[in-house]
Amino acid sequence: MKLKTSITIIFIILIVVFFAWRFMRPMNIFIVEEKFAWPIDTSQAPPILKTLSAKECGACHKDFYNEWRTTIHSQAWTDPYFQADWQFDNKQHICILCHTPLDRQQPHKVLGYRDENRWDPILEDNPDYDAELQHEGVTCAVCHLREGKILGVYGNTNAPHPVKKMDDPNQVCVRCHLVKPEKWGVFVRFPPCGTVAEIEQTRSADAPKEKFSSQSSLANIGKSGEVIIPENSLGCVNCHMPLINRPLVEGFPVRKARQHLWRGGHDPEMVKRALYADLIEAGTSDDGKRVFNLTLVNVGAAHYLPTGTPDRYLSIQFRVLDEQGSTIKETKDKLKRVVMWRPFIIDLWDTRLRRWQPKKYTLDITKPDKAVAVEAIVKYHLLDESRRKRIGYKNTTPISYEVFRKRIELKKPVS
Ligand code: HEC
Ligand code: HEC
Ligand code: HEC
Ligand code: HEC
Ligand code: HEC
Repeated sequence: MKLKTSITIIFIILIVVFFAWRFMRPMNIFIVEEKFAWPIDTSQAPPILKTLSAKECGACHKDFYNEWRTTIHSQAWTDPYFQADWQFDNKQHICILCHTPLDRQQPHKVLGYRDENRWDPILEDNPDYDAELQHEGVTCAVCHLREGKILGVYGNTNAPHPVKKMDDPNQVCVRCHLVKPEKWGVFVRFPPCGTVAEIEQTRSADAPKEKFSSQSSLANIGKSGEVIIPENSLGCVNCHMPLINRPLVEGFPVRKARQHLWRGGHDPEMVKRALYADLIEAGTSDDGKRVFNLTLVNVGAAHYLPTGTPDRYLSIQFRVLDEQGSTIKETKDKLKRVVMWRPFIIDLWDTRLRRWQPKKYTLDITKPDKAVAVEAIVKYHLLDESRRKRIGYKNTTPISYEVFRKRIELKKPVS
């Protein structure tokens, strides 16, 4: 055998082995960073706070507790979608670093990591493990307890527990809502949950001259549709924790406080606040066809719409109907981030709505004799049906819902 042939064969074998390895052991999309690599230390918790349970805080901070209970943060562990996905992913340890980050919420102590990217922890049984606390997911102490003090925006209230001022409340969110992509083999524009990076890339300088307004109002959206967020800030709390005047504890002075609501993809009203959508008859084309335009704009979210996990997407169905309700002509689309996972992680395309960048769809009517209506439907999807099946998530609530629907009847004859 000639040398050249042997080298070629060895080269091909190496490539095959490499790809086989990469398909069997997919890459990790992010590095477990210092900021969330270690469970939150609760050993210095003030003695007045015994179990650190949300119920305990709620005995004094009733309104905050009642709001938190309705949020997905309180279900970050029990959420059946998370549970199905976690089990499908072989119950990887790193997941609980954000879904149940307090040391007492975790059955094991993290002594260290075997690998550089920290996906392989060295664990030891945790005698302080509290299963009830684990079920509270992202509970009060997760965001508020640091080094034995309760972080708040005042830092000087007369509380029965030690308090400390937090510099920027949005920093609290960054811990879990931003992970950095891994260095090699990963080619993505945004990290897996790109929310923070999306905001950083879409600055207010891009604001359009044209004004749009969403279907329902958000405290932080101006009357004419412009979005009001302070400069130099991520603004997470402005939009996700509405401002309110109320006492922090019944009987104490009324203060400026923020509702602990964190609405997002699970709440149709919240998604509608982000979306301007309209269907109009735009006129007649040169060859006499009636032309219809559907316009979608993200007016209410500083990040993309949708944001968060790449599972989320919007689907668009825009069609011309006949008298029987059958489709004569249609345009379908998905506004989604599509990522290739193997053998490398690559952002293939991303058609989600960037803040203020209108997306337009056009349909014209070619068979006016049969057409009776034009209709547009926009739906929000938490995840795809095929992925739901693959991970074995048996949903009890819908995984998609309508966020816009409009129909135009074509009574006028075509001119
Ligand atoms: C025994 C009652 C009680 C319990 C239990 C309690 N707090 Fe408080 N907390 C207070 C009082 C009273 C204040 C001060 C109210 C004021 O001055 O307006 C306060 C203030 C705060 C503040 C504002 C701090 C600042 O100065 O900015 C935060 C945040 C807070 N509590 C969170 C918590 C959390 C989280 C828990 C549970 C881990 C908790 N509290 C448990 C009574 C309580
Ligand atoms: C300790 C980690 C952690 C912190 C800190 C955190 N989050 Fe979350 N957040 C999560 C997790 C985990 C979920 C998803 C839970 C689930 O669905 O299983 C989530 C979900 C959300 C959602 C989606 C709600 C929905 O309906 O899908 C919003 C909005 C949100 N967080 C906003 C915030 C904001 C704003 C902050 C800062 C004040 C913040 N989060 C801080 C972990 C965190
Ligand atoms: C996901 C993180 C997160 C969780 C979970 C959370 N908080 Fe907060 N909390 C914040 C942030 C951020 C602020 C500061 C908001 C601001 O800018 O005023 C805050 C503020 C407060 C304040 C001070 C008043 C105010 O609104 O500024 C109190 C009291 C409070 N939280 C109590 C609680 C209690 C009780 C729970 C649990 C039932 C809880 N928090 C859960 C993030 C959180
Ligand atoms: C100008 C208002 C605004 C700001 C600022 C903003 N959001 Fe949102 N956010 C929204 C709206 C409206 C939605 C619902 C539509 C959507 O999913 O994009 C949303 C949705 C979300 C979701 C839900 C994603 C899901 O998968 O269900 C998360 C998580 C989230 N935001 C986190 C954040 C974080 C973290 C920040 C700060 C870094 C932030 N947001 C800043 C308005 C805002
Ligand atoms: C760095 C923190 C972090 C880590 C680590 C993490 N998550 Fe999350 N997870 C989040 C946040 C924040 C959200 C909510 C924002 C969004 O919609 O993307 C979330 C949302 C989810 C959701 C969507 C839940 C819903 O109800 O829609 C699933 C499922 C999930 N995570 C599974 C996992 C699994 C499995 C792992 C481990 C492989 C993991 N997460 C690791 C922070 C984290």
